[in-house]
Formats: sequence, C-alpha cells, structure tokens
Amino acid sequence: MAPMALALILGWCLVAASRAQQLPRPSLSLHPSQGVSLRDSVTLWCHLPRPAARVELYKEGERTFKMSRDTDKEQDAVEFYLADIKQEDAVKYQCQYRVLEPPGTSEKSDPVALLVTDRSYPPPTISLSPEEHVEMGTNVTIRCWNKPYQGFTFLHKDGHSDPIQHQEPDGGGTATFTLFRVSPADSGTYRCSYRVGGCCLLFSPLGDNVTLEVIPTPAFPGDIGRPRWNLVAAVAGSCAAAIVVILILTLSFLLAAHRRRIQRNESPGAIPRSPKAVQFQVPPGDCEGLTYAELRAVTPGTCTPGPSAAPEPPIIYAEVGTGRPC
Ligand SMILES: *[C@@H]1O[C@H](CO)[C@@H](O)[C@H](O)[C@H]1NC(C)=O
Ligand SMILES: *[C@@H]1O[C@H](CO)[C@@H](O)[C@H](O)[C@H]1NC(C)=O
Repeated sequence: MAPMALALILGWCLVAASRAQQLPRPSLSLHPSQGVSLRDSVTLWCHLPRPAARVELYKEGERTFKMSRDTDKEQDAVEFYLADIKQEDAVKYQCQYRVLEPPGTSEKSDPVALLVTDRSYPPPTISLSPEEHVEMGTNVTIRCWNKPYQGFTFLHKDGHSDPIQHQEPDGGGTATFTLFRVSPADSGTYRCSYRVGGCCLLFSPLGDNVTLEVIPTPAFPGDIGRPRWNLVAAVAGSCAAAIVVILILTLSFLLAAHRRRIQRNESPGAIPRSPKAVQFQVPPGDCEGLTYAELRAVTPGTCTPGPSAAPEPPIIYAEVGTGRPC
C-alpha cells in the first residue's frame, strides 16, 4: 500500500513539474505573406517569447526539421530563408525552440501556409451581377470561371490576406459566390484564383478584378428606424414602470395607515367614537331651497371583524328638507 501511494505522489510531482516547465509557444510569420510565385524566395520568421538556444523549422507533417539555427540570448526572432521556391515547398510550416537550462523543448507554433502561385496556369475570369453600383440589402453574385482546370476556386478581396470564400466549381468550371444582403462594408475589389496540382498549396494567378460599390440607403428600415424606436420604447417602458412602482408604494402606505387607524379604533378598551353630525343652514339663495347637511362618519374597514368584534358601525341618517318650490 505504501509503495503505491509513494508512486502516485511521485507521478503527480512529475506531472506538476513538467507543467511548470512548459514553455510558451513561438509564432511563425511569412514575408512576403502574399503573391509568392514559383522560383521566388520567401523569409519565415520564428518569433520567440523567451530566450532560446536553438530554433527549428518544420514542414507540416514531417517528423524531422527542415532547418535549424543556433541563437544567442538577445534574439527574439530567427529567420529562415527559402530561395527558389518549388512546388513541394508550397505547404504549411511550424517552428519550435529548445532551451538548455533547464533542458526543454517548446510546443510547435501554429501552422502557417505558404501559398504559391504557378504562373503557367491561366487566371480565371470573373463577373459581377448586378454590376458595380448596388443598393444596400441586395444579393450580389460573383461568378468565377476557370475551365478547363476545375480546381477548388477562391474568392479574394483586396485588403484581406486570406481568401474570403472558397468552393468547388460546377461541372462547367464555374464557381458562384453570393454576397447576401450587402452592406457598405462589402464594397471593394474582388478577384478569383483556383487551386492547381494535387500535392500542394499551389494556385493559379489572380484574375481580373471586379469592383463592387454598395450605395448606403439611410432610410433602410432595419438600420436606423428600429434603434431609435427601441430607444423611445425603452424610455417609455421604464417611465411607466417607475410610475407603477410609485403608485403601488403610495397605495400600500395609505392602506397600512388606514388599517392602523381601524385597529386603534377597534382595540378593546377604546371608547367607540360616535359619528358627529354637523348641521348648518345654507342661505335660501338656492333655487330649489335645499338644506345641505355635511356628515362625517367612520367608514367600515376592509378587514372583516371576528366573532368578538365590536358592534356594527353606526348607521347615519340625515334628513334633507326642501324649501319653497321655484
Ligand atoms: C437574398 O437571398 C436570401 C437567401 O436566399 C433571400 O431570402 C432573400 O429574399 C434575397 N433577397 C433579395 C433582395 O433577393
Ligand atoms: C482593376 O482592373 C482594371 C482593368 O481591368 C485596372 O485598370 C484597375 O487598376 C484594377 N483595379 C485594381 C484595384 O487593381
């Protein structure tokens, strides 16, 4: 039993120690990151989050590193230069670093794709429908046609490093991209490319461009009308809620005060007060010559009296005499 517990504790310590020693991951970047063609060259930078002794560059999927560099303590990035790029270089890359004290190896960086253009393929053609100036909310269709190569087709937008959409073309080699309910943010210049060859990240050149301009419509109901209306509704709603709360509070306060008064009146030992009637004569200026009497009485409360309750509230009678008829 004791050796088993010891082994468990030791195992836990080892796991904890290796966790503590885990090195932060490096990151990899490409320069240039776009527009690299076959026979061009490119630089890959491995960015180090801490000083390292050695940095290695891996092609994704390969077990051994493609290149390695010794580093000195001050370096926070290491460059790998790839010259005369070939088809098989168009893959994803990762980097990793090693430290000596205590000895350790970082995890690999996120993979970075080296997309390479093969200029021996013709660029795809492109069309835009409806053309150029469209109203907000319209569905816009961009068609890219790359017969007879029929590779996976990519839609690029100027200013974005990665393709914004991709899809398989139909049997005729046409890929149809739809931009649903366009907004001014969709304005811009679009181009297509398609993937060639089986092995690698090899693409056709980018084709001709099409330019989309989305005309903003300020009265667009979904955009401007609703938020304002919502604001009005919100303000009105909170005002109404506040008024209701104040009313409830006032009513309950009044009711509580009223109950207290009734309890005081009905409490044993208290002399039940008889209602006072005050009579006064109104000068007979009234055309019907009526005499008015003002009566002050205790109204019965909402709480029903129990069996031992005080006698019924007094009933008040008043006589109203009429004078001479008009
Ligand atoms: C845009 O496409 C969506 C989805 O297919 C559709 O519901 C909508 O009616 C279309 N709008 C216009 C203006 O054609
Ligand atoms: C788009 O292509 C036209 C020629 O078709 C060219 O004059 C224009 O400069 C291109 N626009 C961009 C942004 O590349």
